[in-house]
Amino acid sequence: MKYIKLLLLLFILQTQAQQGGMWIPSLLKGMNEAEMKSLGMKISAKDIYDANTSSLKDAVPQFNGGCTAEVISTKGLILTNHHCGFDVIQNHSTVEHDYLRDGFWAYKMEDEIPNKDLEVTFIVKIEDITIKILEGVAALTSETEKQKKIQENISNLTKNSPKESWQENRVRNFYDGNQFLLFVIESFKDVRFVGAPPSSIGKFGSDTDNWVWPRHTGDFSLFRIYADKNNRPAAYSVDNVPYIPKKSLAISADGIKENDFTMVLGYPGRTQEYLPSFAVSQIVEDLNPAKIEVRDAALKVQDGFMRKDNAIKIQYASKYAGIANYWKKWIGETKGLKKSNAVAIKQKFEKSFQEKVTKAGKQAEYGSLLSDFEKNYTDIKEYSIARDYFTEIVLRNTELLATGYKLYQLEQLLTTKEEQAFTDRKTNLINGLGDFYKDFNASVDEKVFEQLIAIYSKKFPKQFLPASLENVNAAALSSDIYSNSKIISYDKVKELLEGDSKSVIEKLNNDKGYQLIKVMADSYLKNVGPKYDEINLKNIATQRTYMKAILELSLKSDRIFPDANSTLRVTYGKVKGYKPNDAVYYEPITYLDGIIEKYIPGDYEFDVPKKLIDLYNTKDYGLYGVKGKMPVCFIATNHTTGGNSGSPALDANGNLIGLNFDRVWEGTMSDIYYSPEICRNIMVDARYVLFIIDKFAGAKNIINELKIIYPAIKK
Ligand code: ARG
Ligand code: ASP
Repeated sequence: MKYIKLLLLLFILQTQAQQGGMWIPSLLKGMNEAEMKSLGMKISAKDIYDANTSSLKDAVPQFNGGCTAEVISTKGLILTNHHCGFDVIQNHSTVEHDYLRDGFWAYKMEDEIPNKDLEVTFIVKIEDITIKILEGVAALTSETEKQKKIQENISNLTKNSPKESWQENRVRNFYDGNQFLLFVIESFKDVRFVGAPPSSIGKFGSDTDNWVWPRHTGDFSLFRIYADKNNRPAAYSVDNVPYIPKKSLAISADGIKENDFTMVLGYPGRTQEYLPSFAVSQIVEDLNPAKIEVRDAALKVQDGFMRKDNAIKIQYASKYAGIANYWKKWIGETKGLKKSNAVAIKQKFEKSFQEKVTKAGKQAEYGSLLSDFEKNYTDIKEYSIARDYFTEIVLRNTELLATGYKLYQLEQLLTTKEEQAFTDRKTNLINGLGDFYKDFNASVDEKVFEQLIAIYSKKFPKQFLPASLENVNAAALSSDIYSNSKIISYDKVKELLEGDSKSVIEKLNNDKGYQLIKVMADSYLKNVGPKYDEINLKNIATQRTYMKAILELSLKSDRIFPDANSTLRVTYGKVKGYKPNDAVYYEPITYLDGIIEKYIPGDYEFDVPKKLIDLYNTKDYGLYGVKGKMPVCFIATNHTTGGNSGSPALDANGNLIGLNFDRVWEGTMSDIYYSPEICRNIMVDARYVLFIIDKFAGAKNIINELKIIYPAIKK
């Protein structure tokens, strides 16, 4: 009887474990650890997170705010994605030394390339401080007062909690503000570029294959952390030395097979798993389509220029990849949410939530949450649409307008601040804009502007549209602006910004481009911004109470995990294929053979370097191949999102088996609704990474630094 019960429990855990979740590493003990072990994990929760002795978390820093990396040698060598290092690689690239196209390898440490503004951040310690943060809050009556008190407590604890002088405290809220954790962190600022394959490997398949399985991208790059003589964080200096980490990962060359346990540690950025159905349906019906439309138009223009001109291709490579990435994601997300009936599933959840509220006698507290949501999301709709068009067209995708907006903010500064603040901001702007104009091409932007301003005129909610943009002649307007505005070049912008505030403001207001952005920004900030903020604040408060209620009314086995918030998380699952469509099954592992199948000589996205073809033909895979084949990528049921790129995929023993970089097309809706049947994360196989470093690049210096665990039979 006992045995059967145990089996049953294991069975339940096994099936539930396929439901995703991103868990806090310091809180794995209990349900998560049991589940992980039932899936095959051989190490313990303490091996993953331990505040006092070295543990896996010490090998997993956040990479430059938006990605994840892992330490793979005792000399501070770190591994992350090619697309995470992309900006850096692009910055060091010129038409003559094109590291994007040709790759780069430092065959000795002196060749490693320093970077300005690149940092990695480790977590030293995590502590639950919810009680301290909520001290004195319950006694207050108004929402504004409560929030003010919480902010006060956060800044006090950030300032006063113990830490070393080179460390920082950070407080983050979880479960929409129902739990607060304190992170003690350490940021290293001397991070040097060590190596990257050519884009034909690191970005193989480019945008066509992005978000798609089966995948064959060798999406990795290498960096090294440098520290001062005391092994502490320091700004770049020739005297710095390779950082000696508390923990570095061993790499398993043993490989994986379907159903193997796997876990991913990393810094997922943002998910919205507990949105009400009203919000999800707005994303599907209104907001995603608007954003997709804008980016679709911008991308077509940029792509046309990039294919014709290699200098523009380098200039726009990183920007284009960024715009294209989320454009495609929103398309996949919208499709996936529809196909999986996410709205109906949420409605069903809401119905049973309402029943639970009634049953628990909590109507007074929680009974009106869903109707509040319904009202607020109805009220906010037009404002949200306007906000998305403004953000996408003005702030994100038309560079002249985005730059103009910064100048507009400079002018606004004068309404509240003194001349000195104006001068400081102006100096900062002038310095910052140098980098911007290096990658700016006015002809490209003029065509983008022409397309996007036409969309603005047609699609921006009429009641908020400035009169001058009604039925606009986009072609005439764009040629007028781009032939007259000074915002189109660095030298001319500097002319605009010369002199005291009075003369700068006068020059700005005589500039055609500036005049337009001012009209657009003025009307947006008057008619849309404040009302959006007002309703959004209500939604945030409702969401917090809703989350509190969900937590209160759920069972422990319901596996309620906090939405991603760029803090370190652990997700786990199994290597697994999936069934995207009727009669189609995708296997979980791809091989080099697939690269050769996709190969299109000279193609923009599917070219393959000759050296790689040679290695394929001679099957020169060293100890990294299996049965005459070279594994490239694999998928698993780990629940990941943007920010998890570069995250280590670990096996049951905590050894590195892969590098996370993407998700599958049919499962891109996992940020809002995770479906265990089709949501998969995509990883590049660690063996492929080793193979490229060793056999393709011949960088034995790097291989010699690594701790590689070979399968017994190959030793
Ligand atoms: N989709 C992946 C992520 O969200 C990879 C993006 C980089 N690749 C690209 N072709 N843009 O970051
Ligand atoms: N590619 C994403 C990243 O850069 C990962 C994802 O969205 O699955 O973090």
